[in-house]
Amino acid sequence: MATVLEPESDFTTLPEMPADVFTAPLKKPDHLDDDWLEPKQATYDSDQDTIWDDLFNRQMDVLPGLAASAFMQGTEKLDLGKGGVPDFGRISEELDALTGWSVVPVPMLIPDHVFFWHLANRRFPAGNFIRTRETFDYIQEPDVFHDVFGHVPMLTDPTYADYMQEYGKAGWKAMRYNRLKALGALYWYTVEFGLMLEGDDIRAYGAGILSGPTEAVFSVKADSPNRIMLNVDRVMRTDYVISDLQPTYFVIESFEDLYRQTVERDFDRLYRNLSPAFTYANSAVIDVDNVVHRGTQEYLLRGGRGSGAEAV
Ligand SMILES: [Fe+2]
Repeated sequence: MATVLEPESDFTTLPEMPADVFTAPLKKPDHLDDDWLEPKQATYDSDQDTIWDDLFNRQMDVLPGLAASAFMQGTEKLDLGKGGVPDFGRISEELDALTGWSVVPVPMLIPDHVFFWHLANRRFPAGNFIRTRETFDYIQEPDVFHDVFGHVPMLTDPTYADYMQEYGKAGWKAMRYNRLKALGALYWYTVEFGLMLEGDDIRAYGAGILSGPTEAVFSVKADSPNRIMLNVDRVMRTDYVISDLQPTYFVIESFEDLYRQTVERDFDRLYRNLSPAFTYANSAVIDVDNVVHRGTQEYLLRGGRGSGAEAV
């Protein structure tokens, strides 16, 4: 019988990462401490502030009627369209008053265990740099627009804010079972590419959807992708694509539903049963699925990104 692992209970200081956890090494820049935080947020010149404004305005033209109400309200509460890249100090003060979260600057993607530790302390690590005009439409590495515009408005919702903190704590448990890949799929299909019901409508709350020009319409309206009600056991067994539109999106009933399905469940048992690799292809529909929309997969079948296939 597998040993029951002690959960990490104190995240005041960065816990020691056990030596038998398998993670990809990242080279820490010399000027950073173990928390990977920049001493202060970068300063941006007027061209960079204009890139923020142009990205913001483009998204705000598209998102009404497609983005979750909590997201639209969050952008207003934090005044993200006030002009230029927002100051992390200002939005942290406003967030702190609403849900106790803050936004802290990091130079790039940071190691999983450090990312989880910040989330467990209600700190959201946000990329410090902003994309250029050349990479205006798509960048692989998350920049300040993806992180602050895409993720931070959702942290104004109290239940979602609690979910993110619990996700950070859950990360430590997943690492100890070496099942980060599975927990990563949950993050992908909720925090990055999640959809939700609002009355009879479907709306997007995932940052990967909300920070780009095409996927909001594709995920919510297009015939091509599957839309399936979220089932945590199934999602954690499902592969995903990093650099193209998703063949499948998972839909939650509400943030309370997401919280219940994840935080209030026995992950020890799940991790003991999960194989290290994914079981289901990202376009699969399986017997247990509660299907909202069975996709045609036209976009995928026509070759996806790079083939010239129409997204919608
Ligand atoms: Fe993200």
